Formats: sequence, C-alpha cells, structure tokens
Amino acid sequence: MELSAIRHLTPITQEYAYFQTSGFSPKMEPVIAEMARWARYHNAGAAAPGVHEKILAEFETTREKVARSINADSAEIVLGENTTIGINIVANGIDWQPGDTVILSDKEHPGNRIPWYSHVRRYGIELRFLHVVHEEERMLEQFERLLDARARIVSISHVCRRTGQRLPARALIDIAHARGVPVLLDGAQAYGAIPVDMRALDCDFYTFSGHKYIMAPQGTGGFYARRDRIPWLKPSWIGSHSQKEFDLVGGLTLLDEAKRFEFGTRNLADQVGFGKALDCWAEIGWENVFAYIGRYTDRAKAALQTVPGLVLHTPLPYEKSSGIVTFSLPGHTSAEIQQHLQQEKVLVAPLELDGVMIRVSTHVFNNEDDLERLVSGLMKM
Ligand SMILES: Cc1ncc(COP(=O)(O)O)c(C=O)c1O
Repeated sequence: MELSAIRHLTPITQEYAYFQTSGFSPKMEPVIAEMARWARYHNAGAAAPGVHEKILAEFETTREKVARSINADSAEIVLGENTTIGINIVANGIDWQPGDTVILSDKEHPGNRIPWYSHVRRYGIELRFLHVVHEEERMLEQFERLLDARARIVSISHVCRRTGQRLPARALIDIAHARGVPVLLDGAQAYGAIPVDMRALDCDFYTFSGHKYIMAPQGTGGFYARRDRIPWLKPSWIGSHSQKEFDLVGGLTLLDEAKRFEFGTRNLADQVGFGKALDCWAEIGWENVFAYIGRYTDRAKAALQTVPGLVLHTPLPYEKSSGIVTFSLPGHTSAEIQQHLQQEKVLVAPLELDGVMIRVSTHVFNNEDDLERLVSGLMKM
C-alpha cells in the first residue's frame, strides 16, 4: 500500500479538512471492513464450534503486531479499550502509603489526572507537577528536584496534548531510574505520530490508544509492562482469563504475561481491526509516515504564522514535537474558532479549561488543500 492511498481509503477526508486525529481519527475502509467481517462472524454465534477459538487466534496475532510496532515482546502487552486503562492498572497496582508522591506534568489529559486525584482522597497520596517548558535542561533540573524519597512513580505524557511537545523521555526516565522510581509514559499522542520503541526508551510502563494515530477502531488500545515489572504491579483489576490455575478453595496462580490484566468477555473484532490498521502501516513503512507528518507539521506551522495576530504554541521542529500544532487567535474563543472552521468544513479541536487554544492534528491523509482551507478560514475571522 502507498501512503497516498490513505486519503482515498478515508472518504470523510474528501468532505472535511480532518485535523482531529489526536481526538478520534477516521478509520480506513479496509480496517472497517475487517472489523465488520469479524464482528459478524463472532456475533452470529460465538459458541458454535471453532468460532471463538478462531477469533481468539486473530486477537493474539494483534497482540504480536502491537508488540512489534513498539519493539516489545507480546508477553509484555495488554490489549484494552483505550489509554486510560493502562493508567488505572498502574495507579491501582501499587500499595499506597499516605504521603507517597506521584509526579505528573502540568499538561496531562484528564485520563492521567483523575485516577491519581482520586487516590489523593482515597489513600492520602500527594501529587507534584512538572512544569513543562521548551528548554529541556531547565525541565530536567526541575524534575530532579521533584524526585525525593517519597516519590513512588512518575506518570507523564510522551507527547503533550496541549502543545504537541515531545518530552525528553529517555532523559527523564534515566533520572527517575537513578533514584529507583519507575516511569509510566502516556503515549496517547505519540503512538503512530513519532517513533515509539520500548527498548530505546527503557520505560517501565507505556500506555496508548489505537483510535488516534494508528487509525484503529474506536475503543482499542494497549498497555506495555516491562517483563520484570509485571509481578511488581499488584493485580487489583483481574478476573476470568487472568489465571494460569485456580481451584475451588482460594488457590490462584496468575498468568506470567501482562495479559493477566485482561479479563472477562471482550470485543475481539475491534482488536482484530487494530491488527489490520497495523498491517497497513507496516506495509507503508513507519519511516514514511513519520517523515510525512514531520514535513506537513512544519508547513502547517509556517502557514498558520501568516495569519495576522495568531499565536503559535508549538514553535518547535518535528524532532521536538509531533503531529500536533496548537494556536490561539486573540479576541476569539476556541469555541468560536472551532464553530467557524466547522462551517468552512475544517475539523479542529478546542482545548478545554483555558477557552482559547485550538489543536490541529495532522496525519498522512492531510494535503495542501486542507491547509489552505484552514488558513483561509482563519483569515476570514
Ligand atoms: C495524552 C492523552 N492521554 C490520555 C488520553 C485518553 O485517551 P483514551 O480515551 O484512549 O483513554 C488522551 C486522549 O485524547 C490524551 O490525549
């Protein structure tokens, strides 16, 4: 498959300049077809001979594809519905003591805040926030100061959703590890937009969505736990399928693999669709995808800067950022900008809380026409 095919395989891109991949991407026709085919097969009669076994085998193949896509082992992968599941597995996998601290950044998504905020009330833990700045040295010094003897874990974005900034993940991880503190990276805005390699990062945990840059079905995602960290996590959210063995009087041995955190009856057809999306990217070549996103975001930044008064919040080159470009237009709220652009058939996301920031997220299906429509729509405002 060629990179240029993606636009034709996502018909909505003919109608809209679709800059909403960071929220929900459009899905490619072959992915929708694969998901639908397996959903029909499975749902028509899951208990009929061989049906469940056959889709289960496909599901396990997806696990292998996900593992390959991030240079991990399939034994280290949990398949779930979204990024937030991985955050909950970690947040609920630690025996908390009052006064334990968790290091977050000040740019986290609610999904990487709410589970920890809840633990402040439930267990008396404390939160500290790394102030994300563009000067990496300054950020790393600040990070060192946050890591005292009470620090139990760092849970931080690989790519900031509010600015698209790529954090110096390996440097942060090395500093945390030197103090014996494990790191969970929230990869929701990184996976599929920038290279993600578990061995190169050496993080303890990594959590990610399929429904964003991978263009996999809605409600797909995964979680990586480095092999030696799997038994470190207390299994607080488990059930049938988590076990290697159990008996009728309380005896239990869990699976050794990360899939001990999966349980119950799941929507396997969606996960097979996830695998299909990964096949498409593998065929195109990740390096081609990243190169396109890099060139396109550089052009988007330059084009947006031609709009009088526009304030760009992502002034960084792709190497320091990702597929996200955020901006504000003084005198206009983000809701006004989003609604106006929607009338112009341009889809962007208003960012919550501050009421002025707009996020444009780009992918390989975005072309020059999309960029022109975005800029001319803003010029009209
Ligand atoms: C950085 C980040 N973390 C977590 C999430 C939540 O993702 P999910 O809905 O897949 O749990 C998002 C969603 O936009 C995000 O941007």
